[in-house]
Amino acid sequence: EAIEKGGFEHFMLKEIFEQPKSIRDCFRGRLIANESKLVLGGIRDYSNALINAERIVIVACGTSWHAGLVAEYIFEEFCRIPVEVEYASEFRYRNPVIREGDIVFAISQSGETADTLAAMELAKSKGAIVLGVCNVVGSSISRVSHEGVYTHAGPEIGVASTKAFTAQLTVLTMIALKTALLKGTIAEQRYREILVDLENIPAKVERALKTDDQVKKIAGIYKDARNFLYLGRGYNFPVALEGALKLKEISYIHAEGYPAAEMKHGPIALIDEEMPVVVIATRDSSYDKIVSNIQEVKARKGKVIAIVSEGDSLIPGMVDHTIEVPGTHEVLMPMVSTIPLQLLSYHIAVMRGCNVDQPRNLAKSVTVE
Ligand code: G6P
Repeated sequence: EAIEKGGFEHFMLKEIFEQPKSIRDCFRGRLIANESKLVLGGIRDYSNALINAERIVIVACGTSWHAGLVAEYIFEEFCRIPVEVEYASEFRYRNPVIREGDIVFAISQSGETADTLAAMELAKSKGAIVLGVCNVVGSSISRVSHEGVYTHAGPEIGVASTKAFTAQLTVLTMIALKTALLKGTIAEQRYREILVDLENIPAKVERALKTDDQVKKIAGIYKDARNFLYLGRGYNFPVALEGALKLKEISYIHAEGYPAAEMKHGPIALIDEEMPVVVIATRDSSYDKIVSNIQEVKARKGKVIAIVSEGDSLIPGMVDHTIEVPGTHEVLMPMVSTIPLQLLSYHIAVMRGCNVDQPRNLAKSVTVE
């Protein structure tokens, strides 16, 4: 087992550090950078259906559902197709409206999650085209899909999903960009620029991983907190949800992820000097807004840990801790901004003596209801 962990103390840490490679693996044979080309053989037969779709529904659970939320923003932005993201468990039991020709994406690391599988079967029976985004080749979900794109992140052993998440984001971004180009809803110049940024993501993830020592120190300060709040806006909102989920899963600290502006409708009541608030505040179109949200938290004496873009000179003067990550196009930011949050949950869990790779009550793959 020590050999399988490749010198890391836990599988989760190994998998966090593997991400530059797993994202590159995900590009292989698909992102032809010098030709500005995306080749997605896995969904060749249904690419026209995708271009002409009136609606996309995404079904998933857990971390995969968070990847779906990011995809919603990306597909709507680039492809101008309305997207709904559904918890598979809710979707399957609520008589959803599905029309012939609707595209349903099922996202799943394991490809065996019972609720996701059942949601796909239901969608299929109503005439939808079901496309899978799976990590495990030959899994049930990949077999039930009409077509699909594998994430190729390699085996993920740690129960808390890390590299599968960034691989899902990579695949979904590629699908959205390709669809937008074929559909004509993205200017070619912009498409090319984002493709270059996408190609640079592994190097940026590498740099984000260098925050490890700093994150570990912050983990030491807050490891005994009883609650955490995670805030983000726009593309970083799902990242906030995912950061909170990671902390809950492996450190057993109660954590809530929230859209930063929605905080004033509830969570703000929880903020006092005991409450660590992780704010994902990288430079993007909602930057000014999130700066105001940070001020709201500080006015109530919350402790703010801010994830910011390299070179940010404003936020460090306002908050308790800043963690800098490299900048990129805002649609790609979740792949980078999620890294310090994975590390934070990891270090806190280790410091609390938790079983990081096999947290209590959780399973890697939930094959029963
Ligand atoms: C379980 C795992 C999570 C995962 C979720 C969905 O809860 O512990 O890490 O995100 O299932 O799994 P899937 O394999 O469908 O992505």
